Amino acid sequence: MSLSEHLPSDTVVYDVVVVGSCMTDLVSYTPRLPKAGETIHGHKFLIGFGGKGANQCIQAARLGAKSAMVDYVGQTDEASTGVAPITVNDEGQNAIVIVAGANLLLNSEDLEQASKVIGCAKVVVCQLEIRPAVTLTALKIAHKAGVKTIFNPAPAIADLDPEFYKETDVFCCNETEAEILTGIEVCSVASAGKAGSALLEKGCRSVIITLGAEGSVLMSLDKRTPHYIPTKKVKAVDTTGAGDSFVGALAFYMAYYPCMELEEMSRRACDIASVSVQSQGTQASYPYRAQLPQELF
Ligand code: RIB
Repeated sequence: MSLSEHLPSDTVVYDVVVVGSCMTDLVSYTPRLPKAGETIHGHKFLIGFGGKGANQCIQAARLGAKSAMVDYVGQTDEASTGVAPITVNDEGQNAIVIVAGANLLLNSEDLEQASKVIGCAKVVVCQLEIRPAVTLTALKIAHKAGVKTIFNPAPAIADLDPEFYKETDVFCCNETEAEILTGIEVCSVASAGKAGSALLEKGCRSVIITLGAEGSVLMSLDKRTPHYIPTKKVKAVDTTGAGDSFVGALAFYMAYYPCMELEEMSRRACDIASVSVQSQGTQASYPYRAQLPQELF
């Protein structure tokens, strides 16, 4: 019997639940990324909704997932709103600083209050833009309830608590994050495979390392040989939040296509993220289901 069968009939159940951050993105478009100590002219500025948690939730929702965020929005004198000054160069590459602010006020008691929503989800998604201990609590609540977990360790921390790996079904990171977590430089499919093996050794069941325009590498406990999944080449204008588009799409597929191979989910999530890089903004660039080829569904 599932946990949702024990709930009062008016309790709303969500399929994809994200425990994570909301930020205001302050995006400057510049010819190139500035060097240390340098001031350069930008040619465009925009403000948009961001935060890895919110981004992933929005992408899952735009694909049709019944999604929710655990984020307790309110007013406080204790912290600023989370902000992310972002610079995007003419090649679409970005550099991001986050000041997480009020996102760091979410605490484990808040999660206890949300534990039914977390425990009744099909998929719970977490990142590292809130306090790591709170993220770990969310993963534990989900895992204990038998809910599938996706952990996106971003921004990465070198001394990540080993418990994170054990509470995670799909550990999804990019090259930089994989390198910080394993100490292995990730600059090719082969080196991604080595980093993926090191992450599996730490205790997670499946690992996806995204490689930007090159696609992704997938490994799991039962298929330890690295599987390279290439992606279509597109002209990138802004890669900000592409990884979040990927994670949100992956959560959608895990929730609604549970029998699909992880490899196929990863291929389709890459296709969706590659749409997001072709226009400016973070959430603003995320495609809706109706805008995508129907063979993705
Ligand atoms: O991954 C992109 C996101 O990182 C941005 O939206 C920014 O807010 C930071 O959280």
